[in-house]
Amino acid sequence: MKHLLKLGDLSTQEITQILDLADQLKAERKAGIPHRHLEGQTLGMIFTKSSTRTRVSFEVGIHDLGGHAMFLSSRDIQLGRGESIKDTARVLSRYLDGIMIRTFDQKDPEDLAKYGSIPIINGLTDYCHPCQVLADLQTIREFKGSLEGKKLCFVGDGNNMANSLIVGGIKMGMYVSVACPEGYRPDADIIAWANGTGRLQITDDIFAAATDADAIYTDVWASMGQEGEAEERKRVFKGYCVDAKLMSVAKPDAMVLHCLPAHKGEEITEDVFEAHAAEIFEEAENRLHAQKAVMVLTMKK
Ligand code: CP
Ligand code: NVA
Repeated sequence: MKHLLKLGDLSTQEITQILDLADQLKAERKAGIPHRHLEGQTLGMIFTKSSTRTRVSFEVGIHDLGGHAMFLSSRDIQLGRGESIKDTARVLSRYLDGIMIRTFDQKDPEDLAKYGSIPIINGLTDYCHPCQVLADLQTIREFKGSLEGKKLCFVGDGNNMANSLIVGGIKMGMYVSVACPEGYRPDADIIAWANGTGRLQITDDIFAAATDADAIYTDVWASMGQEGEAEERKRVFKGYCVDAKLMSVAKPDAMVLHCLPAHKGEEITEDVFEAHAAEIFEEAENRLHAQKAVMVLTMKK
């Protein structure tokens, strides 16, 4: 694996390899077994959006692997003053061993990969969030034993999370249902690909989507960069809420996932969130293990 730009680039075998290594690294960390696969390497972390989980889990992760992280806020580096991605890629490739980037445009990580010569990892764009979904798949597999044939239901905005969950879930043999309002569907290329697999259901009926689901997933109604639409989105998404009534149509042992941060009282009720906190915070922890696996598989020399 050269880069992690989007899950669509990975085969089922490659995703399985990441999840297996993530499980192994998780077990080793818990047992205190060192795994310094990236001794002396430096990961640059470019952020043009906020982050708690991604920043901390990548920084701790590379440290566990024997390397170290460099936090590069776009406010401080010349990228934020208009230096091109093309030149940034060519310069940073001379210093660093890998780059994780969180930004708006999917073209930016793609261009870093195109013009640079080191592994690029997508830490979220408006289009997708592959690192999150690798952790999500690891978590579902951990709680449910397997992914094949399971039903994953996403409720809410057809955003970066929905896009990556559709691709990652289907590639791992799951059935994915998405409940979203008309006009807020996942990206057309994702829907077209998924329709070809016969494993995607899209509806504006949250109960139809959640029926018999093994896992229910939700995310904020307004993503980073959409703050100006927040009020309008509160009106559009009213009712797209994971609450006890919705959970009653899912499988009795259905798990609940949320990439976090959560807006309780909007996309999820406080009671459902707390009832499923064990799963949701295991999911957050798994960001660390899944991303360590991605770094090893892309950066190990
Ligand atoms: N889920 C996630 O990516 O969290 P952060 O925005 O805190 O990194
Ligand atoms: N859809 C959210 C995910 C945050 C992890 C956003 O892009 O803000």
